[in-house]
Amino acid sequence: MNTIGVVGLGTMGAGIVEVFARNGLDVVAVEIGEAALERGRGILTGSTDRAVARGKLAPADRDALLGRVRFEVGTDALRDADLVIEAVPERLDLKRSVFAELDRVCKPSAVLATNTSSLPVTEIAVGTVRPDRVIGMHFFNPAPVMKLVEVVRTVVTADDVVADVAALCTRLGKRGVVIGDRAGFIANALLFGYLNHAVTLYGNGYVSRADLDTAMRVGCGLPMGPLALLDLIGLDVAAEILDTMYRRGGRDRRHAPAPLITQLVTAGFLGRKSGRGFYTYE
Ligand code: CAA
Repeated sequence: MNTIGVVGLGTMGAGIVEVFARNGLDVVAVEIGEAALERGRGILTGSTDRAVARGKLAPADRDALLGRVRFEVGTDALRDADLVIEAVPERLDLKRSVFAELDRVCKPSAVLATNTSSLPVTEIAVGTVRPDRVIGMHFFNPAPVMKLVEVVRTVVTADDVVADVAALCTRLGKRGVVIGDRAGFIANALLFGYLNHAVTLYGNGYVSRADLDTAMRVGCGLPMGPLALLDLIGLDVAAEILDTMYRRGGRDRRHAPAPLITQLVTAGFLGRKSGRGFYTYE
């Protein structure tokens, strides 16, 4: 796999573009319009410029990295891609329509992957004429930093596709873990019950947000407390994941979105990306 397509250049998509380009692969980065394309380009250049400023990336390596990325509007640019990763918003109807388009445009041998964090990969796969070449590749936020990729195989995914994608994760310096198509896969299935519970504790007024986060950071050795982590993930994304897991996972009350998350999303407080969530950002 040498040419990679990425569809959707939000936080995750742009981060995934960076991961591939950093590791020497050619990337075609696709959005639906010029404005979204420019936003995606801005995320990538912002991240690589920060790495240069911190002395982690030589300016010449940044330029070479950016030179490996071609930004394009529309999926027609993905004709020659060996693997395409879809990272559009977490709506099943949207993902299925993107996959129908990719199925039409991409060469028959191309592998089509979704970065979904909780939607059923099987339902996305069966909408294509190549369900055996559809797989989940679930990256974690921030994608350039977090080392895990959940490789989600459905009952239809071909063995060679699973093996190729797992080998690709290693080539990217990531750890791939292979999991079947269940709600929340591994990490989110365990993580989101905890995050949701934290919001309920805070929302019920038992503890301040700073003390709650400090308890989990300092007491349990986690890099971030749960409310800060939710702000990083994005409260809209978190609410969608919880909602999907609640509906797909047998209506387990641990995943019924805490009212405070829903209220913050309704108010437009989406976390770091909107400047305010549980905390306020400059
Ligand atoms: N993009 C690229 N690099 C970034 C970055 C970003 N958005 N944010 C931080 N980094 C890099 C920094 O450049 C720095 O790199 P160097 O060590 O090479 O200098 C490194 O990460 C550490 O950053 P900082 O020193 O600024 O901050 P930190 O030490 O507090 O680490 C963190 C930041 C990596 C985000 C860390 O706090 C962390 O690991 N937090 C937990 C993140 C987590 O749990 N993510 C999973 C969320 S769940 C998910 O994603 C699944 C889903 O489906 C929603």
